[in-house]
Order: sequence, then C-alpha cells, then structure tokens
Amino acid sequence: MSGYSDTVKRFEEIYRPAGRQEVLDAWERCNNDNLHVYVHTPFCASVCKFCYYKGVEFNKEKEGELYAKYFDDYLPRAIEPFSEVIDSRSVRNYFFGGGTPSLMSLDTMETLFQRLPSFPSAETKTFEVHPAVWSKEQIDLLAEYGFNCCIVGVQSYDPDVLKRQNRLAASPEKIHELVSYIRGKGMYVAGDLIYYMDRINPDEIFERDLRHAVDSDFDVLSLQLNYDLLSADHLTDKFFQMILSSPLAQTHYWENDDKKDLTVAFKRTLKCLRVVRKGIPIEDYREKIFRFVQTMDEGSKHAGNLGHYPSSIGFGSYRNSRKNTFSTIRDRKSLFEYIEVNDEWEPRYFVTYEWQEALFFEDTVRELDKLREIGPPPRGMKICFENKLTVKNENHIIREPGSQSNLSVVWDYRNPDIDAYIQKLKRLFPHWNWKKF
Ligand SMILES: C[S@@+](CC[C@H](N)C(=O)[O-])C[C@H]1O[C@@H](n2cnc3c(N)ncnc32)[C@H](O)[C@@H]1O
Ligand code: SF4
Repeated sequence: MSGYSDTVKRFEEIYRPAGRQEVLDAWERCNNDNLHVYVHTPFCASVCKFCYYKGVEFNKEKEGELYAKYFDDYLPRAIEPFSEVIDSRSVRNYFFGGGTPSLMSLDTMETLFQRLPSFPSAETKTFEVHPAVWSKEQIDLLAEYGFNCCIVGVQSYDPDVLKRQNRLAASPEKIHELVSYIRGKGMYVAGDLIYYMDRINPDEIFERDLRHAVDSDFDVLSLQLNYDLLSADHLTDKFFQMILSSPLAQTHYWENDDKKDLTVAFKRTLKCLRVVRKGIPIEDYREKIFRFVQTMDEGSKHAGNLGHYPSSIGFGSYRNSRKNTFSTIRDRKSLFEYIEVNDEWEPRYFVTYEWQEALFFEDTVRELDKLREIGPPPRGMKICFENKLTVKNENHIIREPGSQSNLSVVWDYRNPDIDAYIQKLKRLFPHWNWKKF
C-alpha cells in the first residue's frame, strides 16, 4: 500500500485538501443547471500494460469483501451527501467508467441504479463494457434502465498484442456478437481502438483492426494513438493517414470533417479521432451518443469563459494512482475542480484548480503593478499579457503553478537598453523561464 500513500502525499503537496462542506458550498454557489454524473469502478480483471488509467487488479471470487466494501458501503456513502446537488439540476448524462464497470454483478448494478439520484430522468446514460468481461443479462439490464450507449473497449482484435499487454481477449466473432446484441436492445454502440500498443507489427495490426472494426459495425469509433507516443509527429501523421485510407473511411465520417488541411501540431492536440457511422446525423452523435465528451478530461484545457459547458460530478475511487475521479463545478464566472481520493475508505477531496473571473483580474493587476518599479520598457520591446493555458498536458491534472495570467516580454533586437531592462525583469520575475537568455 505504500505506493498509494506516496501518491496521496504528492496530492497533499500539489493540491489543496478540502472538506466535504467546502465542496458542497462550491456546488451551492454554482448556477449552472446542466450536470454530468460520472460513477467509477476502480477494479480490473487484469491490468493492461498499455493502459494510461490502470484499474486496481482484482479477482471477484477471492476479493469479495473488497468488492462489497466498495459498492455496498463506500460508493453509497460518497454519493449520498451530493443527492441534492444532483436532484436540483438537469442531468444530461450518467457515465459508468473505469476501470471495468462490466465487472459489476447484476445485483450490484441494479442496486446502484436504484440508489442514484435523478437516475430515471437522466437524459442519456453510458456504460463501458470490456469485451471479455460481460454477459447478455447485463446488457438486458442496461436496456431496461434506459441506457442509450455502451462503449466497448476493443483496443485491438489481435490476440497476440493483447496477450503481450496482459489484456483479456475476446475473439472478433465475440465482439461482433456483443455489438449486435447491444444494438438489438436499442442502444448505440461505440468502440475504442488503439494504434501502436507496442512495437511489434503495429501498422499491420492497426490496418487489420480497422477492417475488423468495419465488420463489427460500430455506431462510433474512438481511435487513439497510444498516449505515450502522442509527441511522435510521424506516428500522428501516419495514424491519420491509415484511418483516412482504410475501409472505415467509406462507412464512417470524422466528427471534425469540416476541418481540412490540419497541421500535425493540431492533430496531436486532438488525442482521439472519433468517427461516426454515415447516416447518423452529427447532432445525434453530439447530443444522444457522446454527450459527455466535453467533460471527460481531467482538468479543463483553458481557464475562463466556458460557462456554457456543463458541470460534472464524479464519484468513486480506490487507490487508483493514475486516474482520479474528478469533478468540475463551473458557471460563467468561476471554475472549481477537485478530485475524490479513497485510501482508507473515507472520501477525501483535493481542490486541483480554482478560477474566478474577479480574481483573474486581480492577479493581472498585481503582476502588472510590479512593473512600476522598473518603468516602461525601452523602444523595441513589448510586454505581452495573455490568458494562461492551464494544463501542461491534456492527460494530466497537474497545472502550472502561480498566476492564472501569463505576462511575457518580446524584443525585436538586442541593444544595451533592452539588455539592461531584461536584467531588471529577471530580478522582478525570477520565476520566469530565463534559461534561454
Ligand atoms: C478508462 S479506459 C476503460 C476501458 C475498459 N476498462 C476496457 O478495458 O474496455 C477507457 C479507454 O481509454 C483508452 N486508453 C487507455 N490507455 C490508453 C493509452 N495508453 N493510449 C490510448 N488510449 C488509451 C482505451 O481505449 C480505453 O478503452
Ligand atoms: S484498459 Fe480497461 S481493463 Fe485494461 S487496465 Fe485499463 S481500465 Fe483496466
């Protein structure tokens, strides 16, 4: 367990611990009516090597007590104090993710669904299904409870790469059967595929996987280059090329079809390329199938005016070092983000980011005010001010410390006046990135 205690220590260093009441007060202040709810299953039947999120390895037969403690005791206790927060808003989506939600027994699923606030009236409901860990009865139950979309984590159809990655495999036939069973129950079905899980024949495998995916007939496919390789531009380009020249391009369209001639830098920021079956209108995809996309990343990409996005509230965690269950409380004037951490069966909350319009301007004025000490810049030099990008890495919740605004200087040439001013700036703002000078 010491591994996880270290993680919690790190959270204590970089985030601000908060009591439940502070979190409830932040919800109370928020006047955004739109809400997404996320319910986490932290366990996995095997831990896949490639996985960025990594659930906690778990054997239901041997670890029944742990399972019961999580689903019958911890999770209801974590959710209950927030019932009013949920009931008083319009729930746009309930999302069951993981880890592996399809590890839940029928009884657990049913008890959970009956317990969740505003569950019957939630507009859309989504469930992640592991293709080797599911039963028809589970799918029947999802249909009965009004789920409208299942996401099947295929990752690859290739048994060898799955074996190398310590992932339980299902045959292509079994996956086709799962997809058609879900669709037969009136739900949409999406699939996940990853390009380049490891170095052995990645291109060949992905080309085959794309063909299999066409046969499976998914409504939506989320295609991702292994997150570990997102900085490799040549792979990003190849990834796009392979998809656009595959048979999938005949049957599905890209959600960003209107964007042409993308630079590789832009492609890299997309992280995931999602395609939708031709014939499904883009509005249906956005409103009915993938409602949750705007709220699924840990940490918003930008501070500021995203009040038109819904807030999201997440529940459940158990010693997950990689994936934190996060919540984002937002309206037009503020953003408050926190994670739920469970080490000792009491939910703990850490505030990971706070932004308030009013404070943003205070911050800005404070930074600019320091410049009074050294006077205006000489000719040839400009002081720039911009709204700071708030996450270093999309997959990470760790943000830039310090100011929410970004002050910088640029100069067109060097001369003694400019050099002298740079020296003064260095004294005033030693924390700026001066390495290059
Ligand atoms: C939280 S995981 C849950 C998936 C579910 N447990 C399963 O195995 O089917 C959600 C998705 O993240 C994606 N993912 C995980 N690790 C990744 C990585 N290193 N690179 C790209 N995508 C990744 C996978 O496609 C996966 O389906
Ligand atoms: S891919 Fe799914 S099953 Fe594998 S470790 Fe990640 S969350 Fe667990």
